[in-house]
Amino acid sequence: MTVIDLRSDTLTKPTEAMLERMRAAELGDDSRDGDPTVGKLEALAAALTGKEAGMFVVSGTMGNLVAQLTHAQRGGMVLLEANAHILRSELGGIAQIAGLFHKPIPGERGAMNLGLLEAAISPGLARQRLGTGLICMETTHNDASGAVLPLEHMAAVHALARRHGVPVHTDGARLFNAAVKLGVPVARVAAHTDTVCFCVSKGLSAPIGSVLVGPRAVIERARAFRRMIGGNLRQGGGIAAAGIVALETMVERLADDHATAQQLAKGLHAIDPHLVALDRVETNIVQVDTAASGRSAAEWIAALDQEGVRTGAWSATLLRLVTHRHIGRAEVERSVAAFATVAQQFAQARPRQVAE
Ligand SMILES: Cc1ncc(COP(=O)(O)O)c(C=O)c1O
Repeated sequence: MTVIDLRSDTLTKPTEAMLERMRAAELGDDSRDGDPTVGKLEALAAALTGKEAGMFVVSGTMGNLVAQLTHAQRGGMVLLEANAHILRSELGGIAQIAGLFHKPIPGERGAMNLGLLEAAISPGLARQRLGTGLICMETTHNDASGAVLPLEHMAAVHALARRHGVPVHTDGARLFNAAVKLGVPVARVAAHTDTVCFCVSKGLSAPIGSVLVGPRAVIERARAFRRMIGGNLRQGGGIAAAGIVALETMVERLADDHATAQQLAKGLHAIDPHLVALDRVETNIVQVDTAASGRSAAEWIAALDQEGVRTGAWSATLLRLVTHRHIGRAEVERSVAAFATVAQQFAQARPRQVAE
């Protein structure tokens, strides 16, 4: 039985075209006089996002960290949505490495409350407040099950930040999913932020890498911080080549991942409406709530594993499923069948548990 892996879109394998371009890539030394293939990826990323320049980094985490180091002065305050990936999953690099304090702003589906955001802004170090050094957004929003920030919200945050002279960085690990869902060129999304970091390693299927894009002067300064944290790429063209193919050929197909996520969500909802809130499925992430089943996420994961379906825990009673290039309609059907089997097993086991 082949295993269906729904844990993440980072499980995507490079395409044949990527492997060919990687093999044939012209290489240089990116931190000396440049690697031509890295340069091509950076130029392509900048052109697509409507920014002046781009900088290749190994990961989304590194891109976000370099953005924090570049934009904000040590000791400053970063404002960002309370469940941002930067806070949940990036191990406190914001404080430990960038030397920044942060204030989580409560949000709805990943969108910060604008009133609370504005109230939290401070122009500079004051008697009782740290100066705001940076505002961060995240789209699509991982914790909010892949929610897409509305463009009006992004525009409002950007305008607010500008009024107060604060730069804006966006964690756009799945920026292209957001653009595809909104049906707009990615530059329309990126227009509402000073810098954005997106990953080519997720649904876009390249094996490694992210690109931080923004104004030329900001990106030049960012290069120094990338070097400082060990992110010099040297002959990086070998991996950048896959990123170029990702941007050239893999963006439009993200709509397929959104369609399979819908199919998956509807299938699970039909088994038990408590499992999935259909209105929360916007892109390629589906959160499954196991609470009503009386079973933990860990119990579901173990039982689904037995059925050949791998899933990941998001919390004690939430699973996160992510659709990607290797999950077609047949894989979704098999996954839904596995969920139905497990749901039935748990339902049958429940009276016995109560009797004990
Ligand atoms: C929203 C978001 N930001 C940043 C990252 C970090 O990317 P990486 O794993 O490349 O460091 C991820 C990874 O899943 C993510 O989902």
